[in-house]
Amino acid sequence: MKIVRYPHPSLRYPARLLTDIDERVRTTARQMLDLMYESKGIGLAGNQVFYPYQLFVMNVKSDPQQRELEQVFINPVIIDRKGSVEGEEGCLSFPGLFQKVRRAKTVRMQAYNLDAQPIELFTSDVHPEIQELTSRVLQHEIDHLHGVLFIDKMGAIAKLSSRSKLKELERDYRKAQGRGEIPSDAEIEKRLRNGDMPLM
Ligand code: CO
Repeated sequence: MKIVRYPHPSLRYPARLLTDIDERVRTTARQMLDLMYESKGIGLAGNQVFYPYQLFVMNVKSDPQQRELEQVFINPVIIDRKGSVEGEEGCLSFPGLFQKVRRAKTVRMQAYNLDAQPIELFTSDVHPEIQELTSRVLQHEIDHLHGVLFIDKMGAIAKLSSRSKLKELERDYRKAQGRGEIPSDAEIEKRLRNGDMPLM
């Protein structure tokens, strides 16, 4: 399992609902958490590992020792948002790019956990120290599952100052494709449509 980088088509592909939460899904979630820690990330969505299903993992402290903060959400939906706050954001699929993004201050989310139990998370109830960050991660990751990226949510100035970094990422991606390290976009899109597993 590897994290795909912009502009890999998986990042723009709307992830499918997971209808069966089985051992394979649990294994994938565990691998995603380990990969997230390895990359010093605080959240990772299925699309980012070429797994086009509605699943994301998070730990806002990025600390494998703090297992109580480790969470896996399946088929998540935000049912309410309150307030608005701007903060710095990055993404493991855009190494080196950090920009201010405006997000809701608190959200209410419904999802399923790995035991297929419905859960609800209201970030107003989260410890104040990590409340804003938790809300931000939930919105960022759920966007991923719909093929929406943080570059879409940036203001005009942030977008403008991201341009050269995005061009660089696009160049690197095409070069890796030229070397045969990444399949062609047409092949990737075919695999996404078929949901062939494993995709990597
Ligand atoms: Co991201």
